[in-house]
Amino acid sequence: MAILVTGGAGFIGSHTCVELLNAGEEIVVMDNFYNSNSRALDGIKEITGKSFKFYEDDMLDMPAIDRIFADNDIEQVIHFAGYKCVPESVQKPLVYYSNNLRGTFNILETMKKYGCTKFVFSSSATVYGIPETVPVKEDFPLSAINPYGSTKLIIENLCREMYAADSSWTMILLRYFNPVGAHKSGKIGEDPNGIPNNLMPIVLDKAAGKRDVLQVAGNDYPTPDGSCVRDYIHVVDLAKGHVAAVKKARAMNGGCPAYNLGTGNGYSVIEILDAFQRVNGIDLGYTIGPRRAGDAATTYSDPSLAEKELGWKAELGIEDMCRDAWSFRKIREAENK
Ligand code: UD1
Repeated sequence: MAILVTGGAGFIGSHTCVELLNAGEEIVVMDNFYNSNSRALDGIKEITGKSFKFYEDDMLDMPAIDRIFADNDIEQVIHFAGYKCVPESVQKPLVYYSNNLRGTFNILETMKKYGCTKFVFSSSATVYGIPETVPVKEDFPLSAINPYGSTKLIIENLCREMYAADSSWTMILLRYFNPVGAHKSGKIGEDPNGIPNNLMPIVLDKAAGKRDVLQVAGNDYPTPDGSCVRDYIHVVDLAKGHVAAVKKARAMNGGCPAYNLGTGNGYSVIEILDAFQRVNGIDLGYTIGPRRAGDAATTYSDPSLAEKELGWKAELGIEDMCRDAWSFRKIREAENK
């Protein structure tokens, strides 16, 4: 019995594969390397000393998904594969809806065909839109403020409706806050193709001399230092949250709960940049810039439901996140020389 990890070569997927293997799970990994590369697979094997089956396939290729289920005894699916760049989703809504939704339909239809009923979905705190209060709890109102967010919300709704129609489905919706960091070995980390738009990859590019400007996107928000506050979570903690979810799904006989995966602590952009400089001894030379459109001033999680029901709690702090992210990047820079 194996766990199929779609998008398993990606940032969160690869760290989750490591934690699953370390927990003694058997995994089958699928990825089309759209926003990842095969070095992540080598990294997973080096860290764990374990091997696994890998399929270089696209979620839109239904016969390929079918083959994976025909060839393996898939007990559960963790579904990461999908496009995730918010500004790009605003430019190309049809591409985002088409890819993220059709990929999910394909996996769910194939699961149904093979009688596989346990699904863990890589959702996002984006489903809360701009929350009215913090900390954010799972029962807060849901809304989408961009096409990327719409795809997450539609898939969440689909899961809830599928469970309502057929209570044999166990679907666990994991709402990530802001994943950053890397495995402490430096063998896997965030390695996106193209120009990044999230804070930490931009910081890493600046630290590596790959970009000239690093700006705090606004310092006139109603927060202690004026910059936006987010709930940054170390990707290894996040990955462990998936191991807890898989165990929970195994113990459940139907249901569709959602869990926040965050630390419950909010840090400002300036606090993150200062922590990065402090732990890595690097002067980022950042400046204050204008606000970025669509940003909430403050958002952070209440992670207590995940602690209570999954027995999971984030353990690493922002210093670990900043140090591990930079360790990975330094190794990649040296390899690329
Ligand atoms: C973003 C997405 C969110 C998605 C999440 C994870 C938006 C509006 N939201 O969240 O839907 O689930 O990524 O992929 O894109 N910042 C700077 N300078 C920069 C870049 C960012 O100050 O050069 C600030 C941002 O204004 C924000 C914080 O850093 O306050 C974090 O930004 P980012 O990493 O993009 O995450 P979110 O916007 O929280």
